Amino acid sequence: MLVALLPGDGIGPEVIAQAVRVLDALDIGGLVFEEAPVGGAAWRATGHPLPAATLDLARRADAILFGAVGDPECDALERHLRPEQAILGLRKELGLFANLRPARLFPELADASALRPEIARAIDMVIVRELTGDVYFGQPRGRRATEDGLREGYDMMRYDEAEVARIARVGFETARGRRGRLCSVDKANVLETSQLWRDVVIEVSADYADVELSHMYVDNAAMQLVRNPGQFDVIVTGNLFGDILSDQASMCTGSIGMLPSASLNDTGKGLYEPIHGSAPDIAGQGKANPLATILSAAMMLRHSLDRADAADRIEAAVAAALAGGARGADLGGGHSTGEIGDRVIAALG
Ligand code: IPM
Ligand code: MG
Repeated sequence: MLVALLPGDGIGPEVIAQAVRVLDALDIGGLVFEEAPVGGAAWRATGHPLPAATLDLARRADAILFGAVGDPECDALERHLRPEQAILGLRKELGLFANLRPARLFPELADASALRPEIARAIDMVIVRELTGDVYFGQPRGRRATEDGLREGYDMMRYDEAEVARIARVGFETARGRRGRLCSVDKANVLETSQLWRDVVIEVSADYADVELSHMYVDNAAMQLVRNPGQFDVIVTGNLFGDILSDQASMCTGSIGMLPSASLNDTGKGLYEPIHGSAPDIAGQGKANPLATILSAAMMLRHSLDRADAADRIEAAVAAALAGGARGADLGGGHSTGEIGDRVIAALG
């Protein structure tokens, strides 16, 4: 099995290095790693954030382990050269439309949550975010001058019914494998895109009589996520709302440094990445929490490499490391990125 390693910018290389150490320590054989530059690092090396050779590796690989992209020194570049275009391009080119972002609280971290421990303890949800449509990719978009000569920016929010139906199915299937409850989040009281979204989700629900479907406006969902996050099992939502709600959910679990993600296409091929960004302010200092990336590697083993047994071992080792006191700076602890990796490896069964 070929695993493409795309470390990217900022803390990306540090956290990917720890995930690779953990994968090696599993000693399951059959994993071949190949690395390529992406994001600002690739722009520096080749003049483009997603070079053809990197995209080619991503296409050839059975799965992709991705660090993070984003580099303040690239903020002034034209948009198509910015690091973020690399991850957006990979998602689009590989058709990775289904983004699974599990958020659950490790019991040891209840005190680290931004919420009161008794509220935080109940968090165990998956956010299913649509990843290749919406205002992220809609056309037209751009900048122009108004009739009054004012500068104007515009972006197009759009979904067609096929795009909504296929992510809705992922949401229902995910709910079916868990507690059987799906909450579709939209803004149907204001947006046409969201009204279509809601109509299509209801149509698809006819095939999933065993799943309990509810609908929530995104503003209310943001509020409910901090008021009573334990009510959510699976949330399915569009690209923009999912981006925002998943960052919020991560802080409710203690740290954004804890949450992994899987981005899947319709063949099960996947890109796996921590939901946090490149954190340039702490890059290279050994302060990054590698657990979100290590847990992303576990998701990779489960969803793309057919090694659920090895995924279970990693997840158990992370839980054991946390129970044993492993804490990086993000959780108020003093362990370095490498020390956290050491502790996970020591706990591997
Ligand atoms: C994420 C990130 C990306 C997004 C950025 C880096 C383009 O915030 O994966 O959530 O907005 O999707
Ligand atoms: Mg985001």
